Amino acid sequence: MFYPEEVVEEVRMRSDIVDVISGYVKLQKKGSNYFGLCPFHNEKSPSFSVSPQKQMYYCFGCGAGGNAITFVMEYENYSFPDALKLLADRAGVKLPEAEYSREEQQKSYKRARLLEINKLAANYFYYQLNQPQGRVGYEYFKERGLTDETIRHFGLGFSNKVRNDLYQFLKAKGYEDDILKETGLVSIEERGAYDKFWNRVMFPIMDVNNRVVGFGGRVMGGGEPKYLNSPETLIFDKSQNLYGLNYARTSREKYLLLCEGYMDVIAMHQAGLSHAVASLGTSLTERHANLLKRYTQQIVLTYDSDGAGVKAALRAIPMLKAVGISTKVLNMKPYKDPDEFIKNKGVDAFRERIDQAQNSFLFEIEVMKKDYQLDDPEQKTRFYHAAARKLLEFGEALERDNFTQAVAQAQGIPFGDLRRLVNQLGARMGGAGMPAVSAREDYHSPGERKKKEKDDGIKKAQRLLLTWLIERPALFEKIDGIIGPEDFVEPLYHQVAELVFAGRRQGMPNPAEILNHFINDDEQYKEVAALFHAQLEESLDNEGQKKAFSEIVYRVKKNSLDYASRHAADIDELQKIIREQAALKTFSITID
Ligand code: UTP
Ligand code: MN
Repeated sequence: MFYPEEVVEEVRMRSDIVDVISGYVKLQKKGSNYFGLCPFHNEKSPSFSVSPQKQMYYCFGCGAGGNAITFVMEYENYSFPDALKLLADRAGVKLPEAEYSREEQQKSYKRARLLEINKLAANYFYYQLNQPQGRVGYEYFKERGLTDETIRHFGLGFSNKVRNDLYQFLKAKGYEDDILKETGLVSIEERGAYDKFWNRVMFPIMDVNNRVVGFGGRVMGGGEPKYLNSPETLIFDKSQNLYGLNYARTSREKYLLLCEGYMDVIAMHQAGLSHAVASLGTSLTERHANLLKRYTQQIVLTYDSDGAGVKAALRAIPMLKAVGISTKVLNMKPYKDPDEFIKNKGVDAFRERIDQAQNSFLFEIEVMKKDYQLDDPEQKTRFYHAAARKLLEFGEALERDNFTQAVAQAQGIPFGDLRRLVNQLGARMGGAGMPAVSAREDYHSPGERKKKEKDDGIKKAQRLLLTWLIERPALFEKIDGIIGPEDFVEPLYHQVAELVFAGRRQGMPNPAEILNHFINDDEQYKEVAALFHAQLEESLDNEGQKKAFSEIVYRVKKNSLDYASRHAADIDELQKIIREQAALKTFSITID
């Protein structure tokens, strides 16, 4: 759904940021700003600030920042339209209705019906669990150590030992066979209709918005398959859902625990580790990795300690790495899975294992080692070579060295020897990212280094000038006729400058509104948000910075003119630039 800019702006204007954020975070007024504990990272003293003037928030600890809309997006993990809807409702702004095609309308209607039926089914199973016919299921859960509170929290249930009572129940509620078929909960054949789940304890699977989208069912006794899951439906896609994520996403831990089974998630949550999730009877997919990435940058793998678990971990690690998540692997031994571990050793011991979890790279090396017989010198050499080759995965020299050191220490290989081996193999292999090449990449000649420093300096000058203009709109007068948006040569700052100057023409630049223009690009968004909340030492209240103002304006202008002279279209333009360059030599501004 696309909303016109005026609508977005209206919602934002009517949603006072202090008001909105107070609903989530306890804020205290300090000077002209409000402070609280940052909801986006763990902290003990408040570095999360909210500015009513700028209508923005910024965390000095983790760099999170934005306006009311992005706050809701980040906090609730909502898409832009969803966040807008929430705020519009809150502020009493009526959003324009979406215009759906007929086909979309039907699909959306069907989806709503399927969600409705799943919810009814979940209630039905939950109810059965507490009836005499569900006793066996209830006792099973009890035997596995679940409390009534946990059973309720996860909405656990029981499907009876009758072949079609759910079907009958749903029919009685008025649902037709056509839609029931699409739930995956029943199969309808010529001979009659049957429930898919039968004589199983039931685990409703919820999406991040707590809607039941499918089920897992564990057989009572030793039948096959042990776990049966809902098939893919219009509302259920296994590779898109993670069990427990609806709770884990609000746990506000720095990392998530990723495990294999329903019971593992439940056992961990019951023990207070509510940041545990599981992929549902499938191995982790790229889409899972992307989903996880929205909530965390770090994962502790708590897969089963058997061969299958190790294999699954080896598959998951590169997949998580590819989306930028760093992974550690927890050692569960001598137990099979988190459920068993916690039952036997308790949650404190489990937390200790979390603290000791191994870096995923060292884990991979450890697994690799098992293929070699280390008491045989030839095999031992081959293992070292394999480890050295694997270390070549790191294209960046310092990182590679750090890992070389860690592997050397873990495997008792002299560091110097291993490093030499890594470099030798790298040089022999040549290719991009290998040491021989990246050593060259890492090297900058003095000339190159100087240029880079100069570029950074110019970028910083543009950034400071923008920050100050936003902080003190009165400065626009000082630079009137000298600096315009075009003088901000850095592409991102140029965009921001255009918006800031346009804002000034209409009165006051509005940081929160400007920020909205960058909503689709995380990197840019962060940078612009930081720009509007420059650190205190960069503030113009500082005497040193006052003196620097003139110098900064000079540098921005000079750089802009130099740039223009290099790109001048004709001799007239060039002459004009040269005149301006000459005039700049006598330039000075004072501010108080
Ligand atoms: P496990 O076989 O390790 O089950 O499968 P578990 O969690 O230890 O089971 P309990 O403790 O005996 O009840 C791990 C996960 O793999 C999926 C399920 O999601 C299960 O939780 N699975 C397993 C299936 O989907 N189908 C199966 O037949 C078995
Ligand atoms: Mn188990």
